[in-house]
Amino acid sequence: MTARTITPDLSSRDPDWWRQAVIYQIYPRSFADADGDGLGDLRGATQRLTHLAALGVDALWLSPFYPSELADGGYDVDDHRDVDPRLGTLDDFDALAAEAHRLGLKVIVDLVPNHTSHRHAWFRRALEDGPGSPARDRYVFRDGRGAHGELPPTDWQSVFGGSAWRRVPDGQWYLHLFTPQQPDLNWQNEEVRADFRTTLRFWSDRGVDGFRVDVAHALAKDLSEPLRDLGAPELSRDAALTAFAPGTHPFFDRDEVHAVYRDWRKIFDSYRPPRTAVAEAWVPDPARRALYARPEELGQAFNFGYLQTGWDAAELRRTITDSLAAAHAVGASATWVLSNHDVVRHASRLMLPPGTDDNAWLLSGGHAPAVDEAAGLRRARAATLLMLALPGSAYLYQGEELGLPEVADLPTEVIQDPVWEQTGRVRKGRDGCRVPLPWTTTGPSYGFGPGGAWLPQPARFASYAVQAQDGVEGSTLELYRTALRLRRKLLDGESLTWSDDTPAGVLRFDRCDGWRCVTNLSGTDVALPAGEVLLSSAPLQDGRLGPDTTVWLGR
Ligand code: GLC
Repeated sequence: MTARTITPDLSSRDPDWWRQAVIYQIYPRSFADADGDGLGDLRGATQRLTHLAALGVDALWLSPFYPSELADGGYDVDDHRDVDPRLGTLDDFDALAAEAHRLGLKVIVDLVPNHTSHRHAWFRRALEDGPGSPARDRYVFRDGRGAHGELPPTDWQSVFGGSAWRRVPDGQWYLHLFTPQQPDLNWQNEEVRADFRTTLRFWSDRGVDGFRVDVAHALAKDLSEPLRDLGAPELSRDAALTAFAPGTHPFFDRDEVHAVYRDWRKIFDSYRPPRTAVAEAWVPDPARRALYARPEELGQAFNFGYLQTGWDAAELRRTITDSLAAAHAVGASATWVLSNHDVVRHASRLMLPPGTDDNAWLLSGGHAPAVDEAAGLRRARAATLLMLALPGSAYLYQGEELGLPEVADLPTEVIQDPVWEQTGRVRKGRDGCRVPLPWTTTGPSYGFGPGGAWLPQPARFASYAVQAQDGVEGSTLELYRTALRLRRKLLDGESLTWSDDTPAGVLRFDRCDGWRCVTNLSGTDVALPAGEVLLSSAPLQDGRLGPDTTVWLGR
């Protein structure tokens, strides 16, 4: 037996490493499968970390790998301080973190504080102990309305469709803002608060560098009696927050939620370097969203406003300007994200005409309207270079460095996203962006693992495989690698300066040291501004910048 080699921790100890970092999201089930059961696992991910190092990212964020029934892709957590046996063991997690640190990569884990799985020991206890018990108070149980309590306590709707309440055999109802397998925790309960402090320390002590906080805007609920009805189903959606005075929605973005994060900050800051955090908060108002990112709270919040902005120069400029202002107003750094495990991949999404409903497009199997894949890739590459030139942190989703499109035509028989069944099969859900990654051009699952893949990969995935792009000039993978290498050298202050003398549909801004980014969204060729071409998302012809192209220029 060989002795375990002690490897130095090459990752940066700079307490501000996260302010302008590039973070790569690993969705473990779909990243790499070491044991060949068709489901990605931690050992598979560890074996592939050199891909991230070669890409040049600063950190990886692991979506949930905790024990789970996978009723919601792992966001239904049985135990927040363990590893799902199908994905590995705590030792496998330690090996992954050690390898990441050896490669100079930080590790961020997903924290799911809004709910547990219905299989969590606490919820089973709550069912056993019955109404009025302390175990029930860790969740949100209420009696129903109607003569026999047969109606749900309120008209609140689940984010995934249908009532947000489910009845248990003794007649009470419990709240679940997501699937019925994800009962919401009661954050007014001190045991709940204490348990998550333990979880934060548990992972921080294992060397985790930061946390991504799932549905960070939903923890605080107005549970004062009588619970309030909302009056219309659409008001249960976070997109409807604009219809409410700030902080007054019964379960989204309430002011009390911030006390939780101020409490957590004390734990983050007790580590060296301090642990970082990023809020997943689908809060439409950038200023409200920025409150989660205050230095005395989580430090960052995902910029979903940017993700939701279409391919339009004026709208992008407005969103970027507002996002930077909102982040800087609270002392946070901005964040940018184009794709993640919950949305249509940007190589497809950015091609959908304005106003297209993503779900209707998915239901059409990606045919109405048809998306030209090559044009989508061209646009995605331009969008990515624009994003990577912005001040702040960029969050990448696995596979976007390969230019993967959405798999919009997954046959409905294979769909596993609970959204499909819970909406009565009217929303197809998120599986199309969760199809396992292609690493090689051949093999039973294109190198994902020695066996198959839990969702079918289309044959065209072979041409997107890492193997097909590695070392190939002009490939999307090489574009990302070059961009990240250059970005590291060019990064400086957290501001940009817009140029106003650009043709309509062209965005141009300067960063530090003469680094300049120009994106042509105008639909026609434009003249290339002066400067040395450092990188371009598509070939330049005769000094012209073609449509859907971004170029980085130096002095
Ligand atoms: C977050 C996750 C999503 C999950 C939901 C419920 O939005 O990103 O995948 O379904 O929370 O946990």
